[in-house]
Amino acid sequence: AKKAVLGPLVGAVDQGTSSTRFLVFNSKTAELLSHHQVEIKQEFPREGWVEQDPKEILMSVYECIEKTCEKLEQLNIDISNIKAIGVSNQRETTVVWDKITGEPLYNAVVWLDLRTQSTVENLSKRIPGNNFLKSKTGLPLSTYFSAVKVRWLLDNVKEVQRAVEEDRALFGTIDSWLIWCLTGGTNGGVHCTDVTNASRTMLFNIHSLEWDKELCEFFEIPMKILPNVRSSSEIYGLMKAGALEGVPISGCLGDQSAALVGQMCFRDGQAKNTYGTGCFLLCNTGRKCVFSEHGLLTTVAYKLGRDKPVYYALEGSVAIAGAVIRWLRDNLGIINSSDEIEKLAKEVGTSYGCYFVPAFSGLYAPYWEPSARGIICGLTQFTNKCHIAFAALEAVCFQTREILDAMNRDCGIPLSHLQVDGGMTNNKILMQLQADILYIPVVKPSMPETTALGAAMAAGAAEGVGVWSLEPEDLSAVTVERFEPQINAEESEIRFSTWKKAVMKSMGWVT
Ligand code: G3P
Repeated sequence: AKKAVLGPLVGAVDQGTSSTRFLVFNSKTAELLSHHQVEIKQEFPREGWVEQDPKEILMSVYECIEKTCEKLEQLNIDISNIKAIGVSNQRETTVVWDKITGEPLYNAVVWLDLRTQSTVENLSKRIPGNNFLKSKTGLPLSTYFSAVKVRWLLDNVKEVQRAVEEDRALFGTIDSWLIWCLTGGTNGGVHCTDVTNASRTMLFNIHSLEWDKELCEFFEIPMKILPNVRSSSEIYGLMKAGALEGVPISGCLGDQSAALVGQMCFRDGQAKNTYGTGCFLLCNTGRKCVFSEHGLLTTVAYKLGRDKPVYYALEGSVAIAGAVIRWLRDNLGIINSSDEIEKLAKEVGTSYGCYFVPAFSGLYAPYWEPSARGIICGLTQFTNKCHIAFAALEAVCFQTREILDAMNRDCGIPLSHLQVDGGMTNNKILMQLQADILYIPVVKPSMPETTALGAAMAAGAAEGVGVWSLEPEDLSAVTVERFEPQINAEESEIRFSTWKKAVMKSMGWVT
């Protein structure tokens, strides 16, 4: 027999850089009922290049949906209770595809990819005025954002050039690619994105909330290939195939915005840090755009409905967090699975003076230094793989400290604690180290899948769905785990200043 009276359910696709997940929540209690996860391949065809197969990403979404639905059926939960689906995704990663054949015209160029370094250098010579890009987009010119990736594709891939000339090309970040495919693809797929994802392309004006003609002219990108920009919570279209055929897709947020929503950071000054492939600290600045003096980005936090106001955030972006663990597994082979890192680090409980700056894609906030490269320093004959594992975890914490310091300077009021989420927060050593290095408590929700939760909330709250209430008084109290600083402040400072010396050494490797 089917289980009775669960209340409406909402599904969420969480398409990250390292893996895809589909999760189903009860909209009344926010309880996670079931999920499925599939790891995504990354290709490194040349030094600094990072690509993914858009078709593999799409298939992984279908696989996760099907497997989660099977698991729900095994739990006697009727999948017809799923009333809406939200999408959250790795941001900036760029896909151009053919709307006639439905085929991608090149691999997805991943946000971490560095191939556009010379494109960035060339463009930087002809920026019309100092503040032109930052004032419109909130972003510095960098390899990180989509506009330069599209520029590279237009300059280097014949199929892309031809498809643009013949009016067959569509551009999108991963959300657009997925929503277009899931709502029918060549058979009526909806070509759209939401304001949060659009704000990471460098083509979007974060004040007018529209594609910006001057920016498109500067990057020489034809506006006809851009998706329609919608709010983060409205019905975009219906699932065209699979177990959830006919269910509306009604939430869409870049993963870091989704985590901000999932952590219920709806008030000015509330912040969260998500530890995924990279690490992203976002602080809600309310309805005003705050521009950073300390290397942070200004970005759209969310707009939860067509007629709802837009909220902004300051963001500190760290390129390499979980990716350093994957590197230790895949490139050095010192662990077989990511969770082994905790055991290794625990064996020694110190890096023994070893510092690891994982600047594999240059350094992002607060340095924005593309010429930086990774270094491991302070090695002695005593150093072993456990110390290196420990140093890798410390690196994630030091990088977070750098962006927290920048955030505190920009905001004026220091954060009293840090709300965290993401896969790596299951690592207790990492969380304790983070509290020690920040010297403030670190607070983790008992359900760490806040990215997916945020997308589900947006989907469930959409007009025409209406199964999730976002009124603050309706938000159930979240149970948390707290990590308090355990070392003394002086020791914490000494370690951090040695880290900064290591960072200086990592810069300027590539000229
Ligand atoms: O900006 C890139 C970010 O959205 C990637 O997130 O979770 O894959 O590290 P994640």
